[in-house]
Amino acid sequence: MKNNWRQLLHLEPEKGWLNDPNGLSFFNGEYHFYFQYSPESAYGDGGKCWGHWSGKTLTDWKFTGAVLRPDSPDDRSGVYSGCGIVKDGLLYLFYTGNVKEEGEHDYVTSGRGANVILVTTEDGVTMSSKRTLLRNSDYPDHCSCHVRDPKVWEEDGHYNMVLGARTLDDKGCVLFYTSDDLFSWSFVKAESVPDFGYMWECPDVIRLGEQRYLSVSPQGLRHEECHNQNVYSSGYFRYADGELRAFEEWDYGFDFYAPQTFSAPDGRTLLVGWMGIGDIPYTNPTAKLGWQHCLTIPRELTANADGHISQRPFRELESLKKEPISFEDKKAVTTELPFCLEAESPAESFKLIFTDLLELSFKDGLFTLRFTDEKAGCGRDARRVQLGNFTGILIIADMSSLEIYLNGGEKVMSTRFYPESTLVTLIPENLSGCIYPLRAMEVSRDV
Ligand code: FRU
Repeated sequence: MKNNWRQLLHLEPEKGWLNDPNGLSFFNGEYHFYFQYSPESAYGDGGKCWGHWSGKTLTDWKFTGAVLRPDSPDDRSGVYSGCGIVKDGLLYLFYTGNVKEEGEHDYVTSGRGANVILVTTEDGVTMSSKRTLLRNSDYPDHCSCHVRDPKVWEEDGHYNMVLGARTLDDKGCVLFYTSDDLFSWSFVKAESVPDFGYMWECPDVIRLGEQRYLSVSPQGLRHEECHNQNVYSSGYFRYADGELRAFEEWDYGFDFYAPQTFSAPDGRTLLVGWMGIGDIPYTNPTAKLGWQHCLTIPRELTANADGHISQRPFRELESLKKEPISFEDKKAVTTELPFCLEAESPAESFKLIFTDLLELSFKDGLFTLRFTDEKAGCGRDARRVQLGNFTGILIIADMSSLEIYLNGGEKVMSTRFYPESTLVTLIPENLSGCIYPLRAMEVSRDV
């Protein structure tokens, strides 16, 4: 059957453009996933809004359209990214109101207002009036007017906020604020590391057991063979003795940026990213059909003994699995999208060819995803990640994306891909395992 590239396991708008996940939360018995949304343009034009899905489970969603729009003086050029936190039966949503002034400006050192704005909601959809909490004058003097993407969390009876920022001398950093009531905030400190990009977007503080991490999406890192291969990066620093230690990327594929975490009611820390990046040199053919981009599936985070974070597909996905089909070394297997592929056999080297589209391979400790040619990848070529040993691969293949979890989720690689058919043929070399065809999630509309 012809593939229409509509995702069945990943949240995407039916029309328009999606970027960052925002306000991820569990509130009043439902998950709420907001996102950066341009309802009228598949290319992200027009003032950004927050779109919204809610769901009683992570596989059963309702789309309620644009619920926050750039309709006030303090957010008139865009309702930018932010977060959600539940307090006293209300969902508090914090975001950046972007304001571009008229006139001659570079919009880095002048001409841009970056306001932290709060709204509350009782149902996730109907918003209170907007209240501006922080303005440019509340940020440290060494900051440019690129300050944004508040993430708020509660700890030891206080609230904390982290914001991403760019200094006047073009260094990425984060700013920390504290509050006792979620309304009045005071500056605590800035944090950065030397020589690490000019802007840090979408920060998040993650706590897993005793370990603490700072997640950021830095812009301006040097591109290397196996690191920071994309135009912008996204990863986390581990804190040790209050210091930021080595940066680890969340995802080594072509399409991943601006993730956010939240706590599920059972205590899991879930991470959701934008399966896309801004200013990329490759394309997504759905844009011509009227929509572009999706979120990643939620990923469960756990800290390993060495402090490294492993990511695994959310366990609710298990409920969508149909009867498995086993596949064997050197035997081509044709299967219907979407599916989950699992192979655990340790191997020195292996290949998995998606006929006419791309090849996954592991050799000499290096895992590589390579598109057959420029057309097959819509401009995407190859991405690499160093694994050392290989212990297992799990692939979530949706109608137009692959999320590849390696070694129990120690490393992840995500990409969009655009097969012509809903049937794909795989040729394994030195690899055997199981393919579980998957049922689609339920996504209804309420707009
Ligand atoms: C990240 C980002 C954020 C900003 C939003 C605007 O992709 O640039 O920093 O708030 O997108 O859509």
